[in-house]
Amino acid sequence: MHSGIVNPKGTWWLPAHKGEKVWVTIAFVWCMVLFAMMPLWHFKGGQNPSGIRYRVEPAAYMARVQEFTNQYRVGEEYGLPIVAPPPGADVYLIGMMWQWYPALKLQKGVQYTLHLSSLDVSHGFSLYPLNINFMVLPGYDYGLRVVPNQAGDNRIVCNEFCGIGHHTMVGRIIVTEGPNGSPTAPATNSATAAPAAAPGGTQ
Ligand code: CUA
Repeated sequence: MHSGIVNPKGTWWLPAHKGEKVWVTIAFVWCMVLFAMMPLWHFKGGQNPSGIRYRVEPAAYMARVQEFTNQYRVGEEYGLPIVAPPPGADVYLIGMMWQWYPALKLQKGVQYTLHLSSLDVSHGFSLYPLNINFMVLPGYDYGLRVVPNQAGDNRIVCNEFCGIGHHTMVGRIIVTEGPNGSPTAPATNSATAAPAAAPGGTQ
């Protein structure tokens, strides 16, 4: 019988045992360490990308992508335009069900501002085979400052489940050695970046 006037059985109201207090203290200190790691790793670890973010209407962003594509288009493959923006340019990439548009051709060692957004639902930007992972949300234009440091033909896979065609959502970023260079990455690199690897992405 439990009530406000009759104590339940047990000793729960007695002061905590010394051993319990020690563990609570250890757990609390560890919480604080992990908490401090978040801002520390943001600034020191270079782990979380720092960038600019704006609100944007998906249709307006799509129009901006189209303008960018028309301006710097250098070719087309499998119906997807290949776009080679000049060094330092703002680069616009959009995720939609189920593709990354357009294909990009960038130079190694040059800084770009890579804008990411979505036309419809949430997608995940993951540059294969590198360990880069970024959520792409409709309504937000996220500008990341990037400097490609490795030449090659890379695939962008979507790592956020976005519907029936999610596993086919593969894009492309070609990184060249120079202004007119071709990707000179080792053969193994191109092989691992082949589209066949896309279903291996998470989800
Ligand atoms: Cu887009 Cu999954």
